[in-house]
Amino acid sequence: MDFKIGVLAGDGIGPEIVEQAIKVMDAVASKYGHTFNYTEALVGAIAIDKTGNPYPDETHQVCLDSDAVLFGAIGDPKYDNNPAAKVRPEQGLLGMRKKLGLYANIRPVATFPSLIDKSPLRKDIVQDVDLVVIRELTGGIYFGARGRSEDQTEAFDTCYYTTEEVERILELAYVYAGKRNKKVTVVDKANVLASSRLWREVAQRIEKTHTDIETDYMLVDNAAMQLIQWPKKFDVMVTENMFGDILSDEASVITGSMGLLPSASIGRETSVFEPIHGSYPQAAGKDIANPLATVLSAAMLLESLDLLEEAQAVKDVVNKSIEEGYVTVDIAGEATSYKTSEVGDWLAKNI
Ligand code: IPM
Ligand code: MN
Repeated sequence: MDFKIGVLAGDGIGPEIVEQAIKVMDAVASKYGHTFNYTEALVGAIAIDKTGNPYPDETHQVCLDSDAVLFGAIGDPKYDNNPAAKVRPEQGLLGMRKKLGLYANIRPVATFPSLIDKSPLRKDIVQDVDLVVIRELTGGIYFGARGRSEDQTEAFDTCYYTTEEVERILELAYVYAGKRNKKVTVVDKANVLASSRLWREVAQRIEKTHTDIETDYMLVDNAAMQLIQWPKKFDVMVTENMFGDILSDEASVITGSMGLLPSASIGRETSVFEPIHGSYPQAAGKDIANPLATVLSAAMLLESLDLLEEAQAVKDVVNKSIEEGYVTVDIAGEATSYKTSEVGDWLAKNI
């Protein structure tokens, strides 16, 4: 089959890691008889440099015209310490989420047995962890009204949710739980926030229509603690935008393999697949960054196109590279490591 893939490599190590994922996708294409037609587009700091806009209209059009979008990373240190900057790369990401209606961010976190010693947690805690964080991505405090008082000495941000937004993300959480271990944990701060009480009210109603799935409720502070103490007890964790931002970063370090974790942002128009790590500017252009999270994001992309066997082949070859030690310096250490591009070539060859 023929597919249109938007490619938004972005900043820092983005272009190098995306290049490896494309090598792997091309290997999949020739093995399974598909054609992936790639269209590249600008996003992030590089888009600001070239067009003044971190998410240009042409890029949006490329995304709309694509069956799925592969995304690298955005962010550039030149913006980080400049609170006065009028446009920032991150605005491109938020604009893209809103305009494409990317309402759900899916982050699976599973232990790689051969990397268990990389975890900052004890082995008995991390062994067999297999959970997914589902973060609402187009609502909440990220997109509510915000502002400053006239004299600039006061500021506010608003966490706002509609019933429809909450229903939509919860229903998706039940779809995932149905295919997994049949447990949904709804995370909120219903003891304090009105928006969280709405979440809980909606969840208690929806729960009744999914009796095959166990639902439990957890306050976000407690969830942050339990995630570190007993990560194994979670299956699908679903939560609002900012809680999800924080908890998904926390979840990603449990396995000690930040450079390996993919994510999907599911949208109304199309979906975007990207590694969870950032643009790692210190490594840009050095051919040392770990491409596996992006390659695994490509596997999630293939799943979204219903190419399940192909996606499994990608996951298998990644596992094989880890087991055989054909990996970058962050996993292998200086002495026995391979370059980013060598790992990409190896994966493509072994697909
Ligand atoms: C993420 C990032 C973004 C977010 C930033 C870069 C705006 O941290 O994708 O989790 O907070 O959503
Ligand atoms: Mn984040």
